[in-house]
Amino acid sequence: MTGPVLAVDQGTSGTKALVICPRRGVIGSGSAPVRPRYLPGGRVEVDPRELLTSVVTAGRQALAGAGEPVVAVGLANQGETVLAWDPATGEPLTDAIVWQDRRAEPLCAELEPHAKALRDRTGLPLDPYFAAPKMAWIRRHLTADGVVTTSDVWLVHRLTGAFVTDAATAGRTQLLDLDTVAWSDEALAVFGLADERLPEVVDADTLTGTTSAFGPELPLTGLLVDQQAALLAQSVTEPGVAKCTYGTGAFLLAQTGPLPRRSGSGLVGCVAWRLAGRTSYCLDGQVYTAASAVRWLTDLGVLSGAEDIDPVGASVPDAGGVTFVPALAGLAAPWWRGDLRGSVTGLGLDTTAGHLVRALCDGIAAQVVELADAAAADLGAPLSALRVDGGLTRSALLMQTQADLLQIPVEVSALPDATALGVGVVARLGHDSGLALGEAVPPWRPSAVYEPRIGPERAAERLGRFRAAVSALLDGPA
Ligand code: G3P
Repeated sequence: MTGPVLAVDQGTSGTKALVICPRRGVIGSGSAPVRPRYLPGGRVEVDPRELLTSVVTAGRQALAGAGEPVVAVGLANQGETVLAWDPATGEPLTDAIVWQDRRAEPLCAELEPHAKALRDRTGLPLDPYFAAPKMAWIRRHLTADGVVTTSDVWLVHRLTGAFVTDAATAGRTQLLDLDTVAWSDEALAVFGLADERLPEVVDADTLTGTTSAFGPELPLTGLLVDQQAALLAQSVTEPGVAKCTYGTGAFLLAQTGPLPRRSGSGLVGCVAWRLAGRTSYCLDGQVYTAASAVRWLTDLGVLSGAEDIDPVGASVPDAGGVTFVPALAGLAAPWWRGDLRGSVTGLGLDTTAGHLVRALCDGIAAQVVELADAAAADLGAPLSALRVDGGLTRSALLMQTQADLLQIPVEVSALPDATALGVGVVARLGHDSGLALGEAVPPWRPSAVYEPRIGPERAAERLGRFRAAVSALLDGPA
């Protein structure tokens, strides 16, 4: 058994790093914020240098805290965030366009006649969320120079000089053939990206070079997109179980095994990971705004932060007739209406901050129920439990609401940073060849389990109110 690994999760609003020891668990941690800019027109941008600085800062902090050398590094990434950069100098040529950004909506509308073919080829619906529409937007509007890639490719290049992406991140572009796990000429042509220089698609557990960014020279042996890393960490390998990570957005994923699978229920069918040449697939559904919606309520002064959800929500017994569809950046799976915006209905002079907070919890949890139902329909069996991680799992109110509306147990990860744990597993696999996946993934031991406390009729009634509010949005003027 070898030594600890450094696992770095580069996320939308910050980077977290853990030093994970195979014997003693987490022995060091670090974090550094990043500040995306939320601009008019649904634009969300971030300075790529901030991403790199946060990776280095968080990684160094974790190493200093551990006080023990590590043998390898793993890096998880946001998935669909893209930028143009100069491969000769490594300098960014544009800001990074963040996954939540909606500017490529008109471009997607123009490509709508190709939507079905793209979905068949890549498993992904045509939506500005994915990387390819943003890459095409950059080429049309910003620069003809350099390369345009997802943020992981740039970060890895800056760390090791390699020009690679892992198969699961490549699968978030809408340029990857889901069956062959190779770049699709057909998809590239549709987006006008046929002449792009594209990174090599590698296994997640590949040695991609060494880096001295964290101090000592260390091999980078693990790369994986964040949601899939969380899926791996939560050992979601049995059918009937899914995971949901409550971060900036909330993301529900269910593993489907070694055969590519397209969703018939509006979810994304994509690569879970490719390890040692073997591809695993998953279904994936998204709530675009979870912690983002909490931040929005905080900016309005309704909350003083996420830690306020439970005390403010506890001031009232229920949402008081308020229904909140927190589609602040549009609706993703299973509706794919990114053009819509959120709604709050049922307001009265007696509505308090507590009602709004409870209505937000209902709104996030109800969207996750829609995703879980879609996954169950695709899998042909109801989910028996939901494993959850991410910062918002600290809210007992949100987690209880989730169990109540889902009507199944919600099992909370002992470690909120499951994404880092997952990419740590991958880094270990990349470093210790011969180690089996089952040996590298820690056994699932939830720190808390929320059981439903209301009956199915009451849950159906609350979901019915949410669904009616979504229908009103879908039927209203776009
Ligand atoms: O698809 C985007 C998502 O993976 C971003 O996750 O943790 O940065 O909110 P996070």
